[in-house]
Amino acid sequence: MKFTDSPVIDLKIKDKTLSLQQDNGSFHVGTSVWPCSLVLSKFLDRWTPQSTNLTTTTPNPYSTLLSFQNRRAIELGTGCGVTGMALYLLGLTDIVLTDIHPVMPALKHNLKRNKQVLGKMLKTAILYWSNVDQINGVSPAFDFVIAADVVYIEESVGPLVKAMEMLVKDDGVVLLGYQVRSPEADKLFWEICGEVFVIEKVPKEDLHPEYCYEETDVFIFKKKKKNL
Ligand SMILES: C[S@@+](CC[C@H](N)C(=O)[O-])C[C@H]1O[C@@H](n2cnc3c(N)ncnc32)[C@H](O)[C@@H]1O
Repeated sequence: MKFTDSPVIDLKIKDKTLSLQQDNGSFHVGTSVWPCSLVLSKFLDRWTPQSTNLTTTTPNPYSTLLSFQNRRAIELGTGCGVTGMALYLLGLTDIVLTDIHPVMPALKHNLKRNKQVLGKMLKTAILYWSNVDQINGVSPAFDFVIAADVVYIEESVGPLVKAMEMLVKDDGVVLLGYQVRSPEADKLFWEICGEVFVIEKVPKEDLHPEYCYEETDVFIFKKKKKNL
């Protein structure tokens, strides 16, 4: 189920290389790097305007969506922190990376490991999706909520979607790297998300060609307008 058993994964974002150290022997899934986070990161790398790997003649359907000036972001279930770090390198510098308490050492280790590339230690917070005080403690709402490979336990689906709803601005977006991990969690997730969000699936051809797998997708959620 894990992407690779190699303890170190390198990921090129713009002209920089992130180096992630996994602890594959750990009991906690967040100490490994999962494929959805790489697919989402490289999708963002491909389309974020000013990305050096995009020629100016290429039309960019995501240029408005991925405009990061004066925007705030939060990552849920960040694990080793790869997608949050990638977004930071792509220009979204007001970002907080969150996860459960036991994953914090692996996250902080990786932030330290990449401190030179990033230029500073990024902000982190302990945030359990069911903990409303922790959600309010990170000062919502955010322009971007990002998450990768976070849907695998049926009981966590309700709190996860609620946390996304509370954290994202009415005109903000959720960017999700997704893979089916549990049929039950998958079914419930899309049921609840369908009530709260308008859901757009990124076409496979828009993913980064080297980080595009049959089973992995990127989704863009926008909050449904409330009927007044
Ligand atoms: C499969 S890992 C994915 C990690 C990382 N996003 C990646 O793709 O490499 C799922 C992450 O969600 C976090 N997580 C699971 N349940 C959670 C909860 N109830 N509240 C907060 N984080 C949770 C885990 O600790 C873990 O870091």
